[in-house]
Amino acid sequence: MSINEEFRPNIVAFCCNWCSYAGADLAGSSRLAYPADVKIIKVPCSCRVNPMFILRAFEKGADGVIICGCHPGDCHYSTGNYYARRRMKLLFSMLDFIGVEKSRVRVEWVSAAEGVKFSQTMNEFVETVTKLGKNVRLEDLRCSK
Ligand code: FES
Repeated sequence: MSINEEFRPNIVAFCCNWCSYAGADLAGSSRLAYPADVKIIKVPCSCRVNPMFILRAFEKGADGVIICGCHPGDCHYSTGNYYARRRMKLLFSMLDFIGVEKSRVRVEWVSAAEGVKFSQTMNEFVETVTKLGKNVRLEDLRCSK
C-alpha cells in the first residue's frame, strides 16, 4: 500500500450562508455522500473570505481549501462573490510565488438547489488533494502535534 492510499487530506470548505451552505445541507438531506475530510466553515458571503484565511488554514494543517459561494449575479449581497472572485485570482498568483500548488485551492459556485453539484465538487476536490499528498509548504511546526 502506498503512502497516498493511507493519506486522508484535511479539507477546509468556506461556504456562504445563503447558497453553498444550503447546497451542502441539501446534499446531506438527500443522502449524497461526500468525504468526512471536508470541514465546512459557514461564512455570511464568499467575500468574507480573506486570502489570509486560506494561508492561515494551510499553516494550521489544511491540505486543501475550497471557497463556495452563490453563482455570479445571485449573491445575497449583490456583488460579494465578484469581490471574492477578484481576491482569489490574486491569491492564485501569490500561490505560485510561495510554491503552493494552485490545485490545493478551488473556487466553486454552488446554489442552494445544487446538492448534487456540492457532493460531486467535494468528491473531486478531495481526490485531487489526495493525489497531491500532504501540504507541508506553509506548515507551521508550532501547530503540529
Ligand atoms: Fe453567497 Fe455572497 S451571499 S456569495
